[in-house]
Amino acid sequence: MAKIVGIAGSLRKASFNATLLRAAAEHVPAGSELEIASIQGIPLFDQDELERGVPEPVARLKERLAAADGLLFVTPEYNHSIPGVFKNVIDWMSRPAADIPRLFGDRPVAIMGASTGPGGTRLAQAAWLPVFRVLGTRPWFGKQFYLPGAGKAFDAEGKLSDPTTRQALADFVLGFAKFVDQQKS
Ligand code: FNR
Repeated sequence: MAKIVGIAGSLRKASFNATLLRAAAEHVPAGSELEIASIQGIPLFDQDELERGVPEPVARLKERLAAADGLLFVTPEYNHSIPGVFKNVIDWMSRPAADIPRLFGDRPVAIMGASTGPGGTRLAQAAWLPVFRVLGTRPWFGKQFYLPGAGKAFDAEGKLSDPTTRQALADFVLGFAKFVDQQKS
C-alpha cells in the first residue's frame, strides 16, 4: 500500500487549496492512500528556537512526512510565487539539514494548486522547483494541474463543478499514485 501525504499550504479555514486536496483524496486508487497533513501550529522558523529543541507541531509533521512514500504539495500563489506560510513549513522540515535525506531524499513529490487568479498557481508551482531540487526529491512531472478561478470552481460540497476539471484532477492523482507505487517497489 503506497501512502501519499498531502499538504495544503494555506491556514485559511475555507482554503481552496485545502478543498482541492480533499477533492484529490477522493480519486486515490485502491491500493494507495492519501493522508492529509495539517500545517496548523507551525511557528515561524527561528534558528534559535531550533537550537532549544524542535517544536512539537514541527516534530509531528516531520514524522508524518518521513513515513510517507510520496508527498503531494498543494500550493496557493502569493504575488506570483510561493506563499511564505508554506515555504516556512518546508524550511522547518529541512532543519536540521541532516534530516533532509530522511524526509525528502529520493521521495516522489507532486505539486498542484488553486488560485483565484487566471494562472491557477503556474508561477508558484514553478517557484517550488528549485526547492524540490535542493531537497533531493524525485519530482513527478507526468501531468500538471492548475486550478484558476478557484472561487467559482467548487460546489457547496467542495467538489469540482466542471467535469473536465474533475477528470483532470482524477488523472493527475492516478498518475502520481502509480509513480509512487513504482518507486516503492
Ligand atoms: C493572492 N492571490 C493571488 N492569486 C493569484 O492567482 N496570483 C497571485 O499572485 C496572487 N497573489 C496573492 C497575494 C496575496 C498576499 C494573497 C493573500 C492572495 C489570491 C489567492 O489566489 C487567493 O487568496 C487564494 O484563495 C489563496 O489560496 P487559499 O488560501 O484559498 O488556499
